[in-house]
Amino acid sequence: MEKLKNIRLSDSGDSIIIIDQTLLPSELRYIELRTREQLFEAIRSLRVRGAPAIGIAAAYGYYLCAREDAHRKDFFDRMEGAVDYLSAARPTAVNLSWALSVMHGALKRNIALPRAELVELLRREALRIHEDDISSNRRIAEYGLTLLRDGSGVITHCNAGPLATSEYGTALGPLLLSVERGMHIRVFADETRPLLQGARLTAYELMRGGVDVTLICDNMASIVMKNGLVNAVFTGCDRIAANGDAANKIGTSGLAVLAHHYGIPFYMLGPLSTVDMNTPSGGGIRIELRSADEVTEMHYAHRMAPEGVKVYNPAFDVTDHSLIAGFVTEAGIITAPFEYNFKKAMERKENGLC
Ligand code: MRU
Repeated sequence: MEKLKNIRLSDSGDSIIIIDQTLLPSELRYIELRTREQLFEAIRSLRVRGAPAIGIAAAYGYYLCAREDAHRKDFFDRMEGAVDYLSAARPTAVNLSWALSVMHGALKRNIALPRAELVELLRREALRIHEDDISSNRRIAEYGLTLLRDGSGVITHCNAGPLATSEYGTALGPLLLSVERGMHIRVFADETRPLLQGARLTAYELMRGGVDVTLICDNMASIVMKNGLVNAVFTGCDRIAANGDAANKIGTSGLAVLAHHYGIPFYMLGPLSTVDMNTPSGGGIRIELRSADEVTEMHYAHRMAPEGVKVYNPAFDVTDHSLIAGFVTEAGIITAPFEYNFKKAMERKENGLC
């Protein structure tokens, strides 16, 4: 099955082409983003979504801003403004601000270059961030697969597949790879209320990849675990604090509590760029609050809740590190003590040892 290219720079280099994820699974439509405002809107409204994917899109966006503003006297101020503006599109996933700070760091280090060279350097830096994510995903898929055996069952939440990252995805990577290896893994996909990333995107990607996937409502996870249908939980992650507390789509921490109760190992899969060593613990992670209509109206033929009802709609929650068996990263499977082992893994990556 042909791999979906969820984000790419256009051949002429003046736009970003993304799959509009809000239309899936009924329609596979590619849209073109030319301005920072269009990119901001696409990230905010989840046309492009998933922690690594919004980082990659932002890196390309930064390059587009540099290309557009290269001739201006206030070039540097404009680029600082672009970092602040794009980072504000979504607050929880660290990959967004991480990618922008990598791009801005490259600009600062090379600010003395002639503008055309500087812009070209930024194009290559954005491509490098994207390529690194592709190769990290491949390694995550390989490491994740070591946790499974032919016939295993896995439950997953939200969407951490190719659409949310690049190529294999993170939590879905081992599951897609298992098909290539001739293994049979049975996957239960939480629908993931309220925006249904599990039902719309995970089910779509896994079916496309030939994985045996069964869709469940979020409140069915307990019975699936109790009936012995799964051996592991695999989810993605949006921001991992230094102590291993980790934010992911709302409902993830409940799944981790259930998994703990039933003695099922709970793994989070993601690149090291999702680890935020500047945030000591989960209490420091800002949780995005989204609009009420996502809960009361969106995805229903008719509004289903009374007009004016109060709604609480946090888009993410934080899973306590004590509930996490390990983080599957491109540098291997990281277990407790997390802070120490994250540092070691980052060193290995910096030294090209993984
Ligand atoms: O609000 P979303 O759809 O961007 O949330 C995405 C998730 O929570 C994913 O699980 C996470 O970004 C990991 S993606 C590899």
